[in-house]
Amino acid sequence: MGLYHMLGLSTRAGGPGLPGGARRHSPVAGELGQYEYLALRKKTTKLKFRLLLLVLAAGTAAAVLGFSFSFRPAPVVQPLAFDHKRHGAEDIACKDCHKRVEDSPYATFPKLKQCLLCHLEAKGNHPDEPKIRDYAKEKKEIPWIQVNRLPGHVYFSHAAHVKYARMDCKECHGDMKERTEPVTVSQIQHLDMNTCMDCHKEKGVSTDCLRCHK
Ligand code: HEC
Ligand code: HEC
Ligand code: HEC
Ligand code: HEC
Ligand code: HEC
Repeated sequence: MGLYHMLGLSTRAGGPGLPGGARRHSPVAGELGQYEYLALRKKTTKLKFRLLLLVLAAGTAAAVLGFSFSFRPAPVVQPLAFDHKRHGAEDIACKDCHKRVEDSPYATFPKLKQCLLCHLEAKGNHPDEPKIRDYAKEKKEIPWIQVNRLPGHVYFSHAAHVKYARMDCKECHGDMKERTEPVTVSQIQHLDMNTCMDCHKEKGVSTDCLRCHK
């Protein structure tokens, strides 16, 4: 994955800085007619994707030659022992904490102020619980690490699948309601390209390469 980023091939729209998956507009748009601009944009996107194929071919060749590209990340250590099961029992919905899951590509992580709604005062006697207020004192957010991540050249949208396709979080993430430990390894390995494609074919959704690859 680092390889795509090094080569500047991470062209996915959206991200924390661009809520709702807004696309950046290129300054040349103003100088060209709309159709010329669109044609140009299409060309450069195709070029980027061809470049990607080339890089992948090179990667395979390198692997054959005995270089090792490690694509499997090690388990991460999350800053706090967050327990989904315990918090589910508090009657909080997934989207109370993962606020953008129905209206943007990203589900997002909860802000500290969300935790402080209940943890402004001590709750229980778990050693990690007071750390919530330590972050508040230091005016820092809790640095959660995003574990589930597709390669940078793939575009994915939570809103499309959760809201419009009405999929349950469970279908992709397993049963989070029963989970007592933080997520430390990816839950989405089963979502390879064929799985995405099979369902798109079945539901009559576009399988155009550039729908998922930007
Ligand atoms: C609706 C109230 C509520 C919200 C919001 C909430 N918590 Fe909790 N939290 C609780 C309760 C209740 C407990 C259990 C206390 C006990 O042990 O009796 C708890 C326990 C914990 C514990 C101790 C671990 C454990 O298993 O007991 C941690 C750590 C924690 N919460 C972190 C967080 C974080 C981080 C957030 C924000 C993302 C958060 N909580 C949001 C109510 C809440
Ligand atoms: C169709 C499969 C699918 C479904 C359904 C799904 N997710 Fe995800 N989720 C993913 C994928 C794929 C990623 C990694 C996305 C990326 O690389 O940007 C991810 C990443 C995440 C992340 C971390 C990154 C982020 O987007 O902030 C959270 C949190 C998350 N999902 C929560 C949820 C919740 C909550 C639901 C249900 C309301 C849900 N997901 C439903 C596939 C899914
Ligand atoms: C009280 C807030 C809270 C609620 C409610 C909550 N989550 Fe989370 N969620 C978190 C926090 C904090 C993390 C990061 C720590 C962890 O992995 O447990 C997280 C992590 C995740 C991740 C892993 C994201 C990644 O890729 O790193 C998924 C998936 C997820 N939650 C899904 C769900 C689903 C599905 C529900 C509803 C059943 C739900 N969450 C309810 C706070 C919450
Ligand atoms: C179980 C079925 C299913 C799976 C699995 C699935 N999708 Fe989808 N996807 C859908 C449906 C249905 C829609 C159309 C939603 C709508 O009506 O907009 C969709 C829409 C999309 C869109 C269009 C969103 C937009 O805003 O234009 C993209 C991109 C996408 N999916 C990517 C993926 C990727 C990448 C994967 C695999 C990681 C994946 N999908 C897996 C069912 C699925
Ligand atoms: C529905 C979404 C979707 C569509 C449509 C799609 N892809 Fe993919 N593609 C993916 C996902 C997701 C991955 C990442 C798989 C992984 O990480 O395991 C991927 C990975 C790839 C890779 C990297 C090699 C690999 O297997 O990991 C290539 C090359 C590729 N796609 C080519 C294409 C081409 C060519 C088309 C058009 C025929 C296409 N894709 C259409 C979702 C899609």
